[in-house]
Amino acid sequence: MTYSAARLLRSLLLALPFAALAPAAPAPLVDAATEQRIDTLLAQMTVEEKVGQLHQLSNAFDTTGPVPEKPDELARYEAIRTGRTGSALNVGGAASVRRIQQLAVEGSRLHIPMIFGYDVIHGYRTIFPVPLAEAASWDLDAITLSARIAATEAAAAGVDWTFAPMVDIARDARWGRIMEGAGEDPYLGSAIAVARVRGFQGPDLRSPDAVAACLKHFAAYGFGEAGRDYNTADLSESTLQNVVLPPFRAAIAAGAATVMSSFNDIGGLPAVVHTRLQRTILKGEWRFPGFIVSDWGAIRESLAHGVSVDLRDAARLALLSGNDMDMESAAYSRHLASLVADGSVPATSLDDAVRRILRVKFALGLFDDPYRRCDPAREKRLLEAPEHLAAARDVARKSIVLLKNTGSLLPLDPKLRRIAVIGWLAGDKDTPLGNWRGQARPDSAISLLEGIRAAVGPRTVVDYAEGAKVTIGDRHAFMDSQYNTTDRSGFRAAVAAARKADVVVLALGEDAWQTGEGRSQTDIGLKGLQQELFAAVSAANPRTIVVLMNGRPLVLGRVAEKAPVLVEAWHLGSQAGHAIADVLFGQYNPSGKLPASFPRTVGQCPIYYAHKNTGRPIPGDGRVFWSHYTDTLNTPLYPFGFGLSYTTFNLSAPRLSATAIGPRETLQVTATVTNTGPRAGAEVVQLYTRDMVGSETRPVKELKGFRKIELQPGESREVVFPITSADLAYFTPRGVWEAEPGEFQVFVGNSSESDQPVTFTLRAE
Ligand code: BGC
Repeated sequence: MTYSAARLLRSLLLALPFAALAPAAPAPLVDAATEQRIDTLLAQMTVEEKVGQLHQLSNAFDTTGPVPEKPDELARYEAIRTGRTGSALNVGGAASVRRIQQLAVEGSRLHIPMIFGYDVIHGYRTIFPVPLAEAASWDLDAITLSARIAATEAAAAGVDWTFAPMVDIARDARWGRIMEGAGEDPYLGSAIAVARVRGFQGPDLRSPDAVAACLKHFAAYGFGEAGRDYNTADLSESTLQNVVLPPFRAAIAAGAATVMSSFNDIGGLPAVVHTRLQRTILKGEWRFPGFIVSDWGAIRESLAHGVSVDLRDAARLALLSGNDMDMESAAYSRHLASLVADGSVPATSLDDAVRRILRVKFALGLFDDPYRRCDPAREKRLLEAPEHLAAARDVARKSIVLLKNTGSLLPLDPKLRRIAVIGWLAGDKDTPLGNWRGQARPDSAISLLEGIRAAVGPRTVVDYAEGAKVTIGDRHAFMDSQYNTTDRSGFRAAVAAARKADVVVLALGEDAWQTGEGRSQTDIGLKGLQQELFAAVSAANPRTIVVLMNGRPLVLGRVAEKAPVLVEAWHLGSQAGHAIADVLFGQYNPSGKLPASFPRTVGQCPIYYAHKNTGRPIPGDGRVFWSHYTDTLNTPLYPFGFGLSYTTFNLSAPRLSATAIGPRETLQVTATVTNTGPRAGAEVVQLYTRDMVGSETRPVKELKGFRKIELQPGESREVVFPITSADLAYFTPRGVWEAEPGEFQVFVGNSSESDQPVTFTLRAE
């Protein structure tokens, strides 16, 4: 492809990649009448009151970051009463929010309401699967519903604004926060980001059951070196544009009201002081009208990063580079007024930040009724409402991925004579709630054991044996030694139970607190005695079904090799046990697909299907000089997009409507999917393309579409994917989104390992 040919195509420049994912236009944040009301307010506000709007404090109710100074409660009270605090996070419950809001609205001169934020990540009281698990459903309606219910509960409890969704693409399972996102792929990640924003914000932010979304963490937080949390991200412009930014951009187009910057240094600048990211790209090129909040204490952390000399300097840099609200650094509240007074920060920059925050407050309806989200009676009625729990069960079973089912051991007959349920995780009512569990009641999840007991017939005997603990001591101690139990005293009972049983269900995996913020690990295997327990139990009874509970892709080692059945059940939330039992006993036919590759060994991390080909992709003359490892394969153990069903599906080779298309034409890719097995089930049909030659190297495959199709036994359906040059565009070295003419391969399959491509050409004209 020549440079001039590419230029010809530039006329097709896409305003928006993933445009097809954008939903019907949400109510805009900016309208003339509101802007006028904001003008009026700004004209009345003192500099101190303006700065106050930019100041956010955390309540002690739930601390989600380091607290270097003990807060002076009286001073905080005064700051709220005098309009010098615009926002608070971590305030628990409708009654508390009402009290604080009252102080701000009735106490302060201009009666400006506060905005209350909280991390509602996968549910408020009713807990849904952790976001990575939910992404495995590839079911956008289910994901929207889960966010909708989370918003309904949170909004009933006084929350105006959730710090979610996390839309960071993550390709390194060592990073504990991989559990909070949608996995490794920018296309799937964008679709899910949009689905979550739609769910949280609903059609109208003013509604008392809507909360403002916050896209986080902007940007490249998932690319920390060596998978270590808060670590430096050093990535190319191409990766930034083509992989990291798309979910943010898609969700902003869908109306996300706010963005949180990330903690990390990216290319030499901490994100919170990154002018290009915040001002040029987000507020400039993307015309984002909402506001940016720093992450917890991140403005202060620019000192540790070594780019500001003191807190005053940090405040100056952050505001100038586009950060609007300061979470927990008190940098703005202490220094911004004087920075404006001496001209270090233009008053117009301060006004712009205030305007953006007020816009979101207006959009949330807070100026009409600041108490619209704090009604304790509603809160009581809605938290853990039966219909919410029913939805949580359904979303949970949709999130389960069947990785292996040798000899069709599953589904089980509920009338089995005797089942042994083994493993500490199987009896634990806390782990399924996962990390970032909002206001879940402790130990409130349905355990796997409870789920199985509720599912079997009256004559089935269910024996339970713990085997060995996964976590010892204080589960919040966050030390690796917690996972290194040496106590085998429970093995005997476990083996005895296994021997007597027709079938064993063995739960293995991670405690809830092993993943999440600050929980990066260099060993992502089954810790402690879990491999040993598996060996003992499966020797006693080879009909051992392994149910995995985890928040990240794990290295499974011998368990994956030897277990006849592997069910990936993540941390599935309040109804986990029922959802898993639904799958084990065939009430629900599993349909989940992995949103992130499962490595064979941790040394493969980061690992993802959309890698580059390299100059030495194949063995050549059989010697060592090609891109590979000498001690393991390049491929993951389980690839992105993979997951089995109790039925089988046949996918025809893709048929193309043309062998070449022009830049304004649409190619139809059609494939026929047939349920060739004995049961009804759902298959996720996935479309991938490969751009064979580009101005820069291109991934060996990129997801470009998917459909989840339900089919009865014997039923066939045609799946049609339209492809336009918009779908083939990428951020090229010329700094624009454009499709480059040339040859493309198309793959249709049921995982990213689908092969047998067909080829077409994109013409320049
Ligand atoms: C996390 C954010 C979170 C914030 C507030 C930080 O430590 O990185 O994701 O929203 O705390 O709780």
